[in-house]
Amino acid sequence: MSKAVNAKASGAKRLGQIPPYLFAEIDRKVQEKKRAGVDVISLGIGDPDLPTPKRIVSVLQEAAADPENHRYPSYFGLAELRGAIANWYSDRFGATLDPQTEILPTLGSKDGISHVPLALVDPGDLVLAPDPGYTVYVTGALMAGAEAYAMPLTHENEWLPDLSAIPDDVADRARLMWLNYPNNPTAAVADREFLTRAVEFCRDHGIILCHDAPYSEIAFGGYRPLSLFEVPGAKDIGLEFHSLSKTFNMTGWRIGWVCGRADLIAHIGQLKTNVDSGIFQAVQWAAIEALNGGEEETRAACEVFARRHQLVADTLNSLGWNIKPPRATFYVWAPVPHGYDSIGFAGHVLDQVGVNITPGVGFGPHGEGYFRLSVTAPDERLAEAMRRMENLRL
Ligand SMILES: Cc1ncc(COP(=O)(O)O)c(C=O)c1O
Repeated sequence: MSKAVNAKASGAKRLGQIPPYLFAEIDRKVQEKKRAGVDVISLGIGDPDLPTPKRIVSVLQEAAADPENHRYPSYFGLAELRGAIANWYSDRFGATLDPQTEILPTLGSKDGISHVPLALVDPGDLVLAPDPGYTVYVTGALMAGAEAYAMPLTHENEWLPDLSAIPDDVADRARLMWLNYPNNPTAAVADREFLTRAVEFCRDHGIILCHDAPYSEIAFGGYRPLSLFEVPGAKDIGLEFHSLSKTFNMTGWRIGWVCGRADLIAHIGQLKTNVDSGIFQAVQWAAIEALNGGEEETRAACEVFARRHQLVADTLNSLGWNIKPPRATFYVWAPVPHGYDSIGFAGHVLDQVGVNITPGVGFGPHGEGYFRLSVTAPDERLAEAMRRMENLRL
């Protein structure tokens, strides 16, 4: 084969900058173990085991049978969906959004997050991203030709970025900042004071503040996470990303939304008209049902997650860890034992007891020294995983 043909057959240069998607890699290892006959318990991915509430499934079934829903949907989502989102937002956070101009439904929040830099950032611009963090903040920036600048999240700083540590020249070059509370992977939460400081910082430096909030409803013990738009002035500079994935156990359905400043929403909408052709309308009707139906099921799911969090904390603490169940998210973020790095420890746990956990370094260099597990496995599987952990030899 000639050199020219080889070059054409290889992937685009920009893909060379992007590490393999963490979960795809983990999945490959787990599949290998399973093929070798190991009964692997996966606590690696934040994908709720609980089913989508029946009322939502019923609406989908009915809507799927209606030919009205079989054609291309609107690029910008049903007006009824945007209206339901605006009502949900105002009930939940007391924040007002214009359903015409300030809300754009997306194919899950990953769709919005990965595409935002293509719509709002130029090659060579800086994107500020938490480290450790959801990896798509960085890969989305790289795919748009931008540079990512890490904002370390540390235990000492309660897993909030230290905004005062961002050099002025970096802040002035930055076009966009990602925040994510309640946080994946650290399970940390942000209070009003921090969000207010972040809004001020971004306003002072002309940065678009993107708050990724898919875990806003997964919280325990009466704790209610804030929306960015509960901070006065945030809508002048910001966007917030939401998802039905975690709130209603709908990860497979692919529906969420981005909301906030109208001109930014319009740019994302313009980009998306060229990328996808909207969300299956039957899924949109089901989402409307989800949002209009109250939060009883979400609260019940959170009780299950809270109980599981307690079991994990009790087990790990009996083995020498010192962790508290988190206030939000279904993640446990804990240090790896002395003598291991995070990949080494995750590999050791998988090899020794067949439990799959996620190495912290997979979320960025500052995640080194930690691992994440998700309490989204069925009760009996999680209990079995904890029994196995008790037999782990270090
Ligand atoms: C922080 C964060 N943002 C966004 C997403 C994407 O969620 P979805 O695309 O299912 O809405 C996830 C999924 O795990 C996440 O952890």
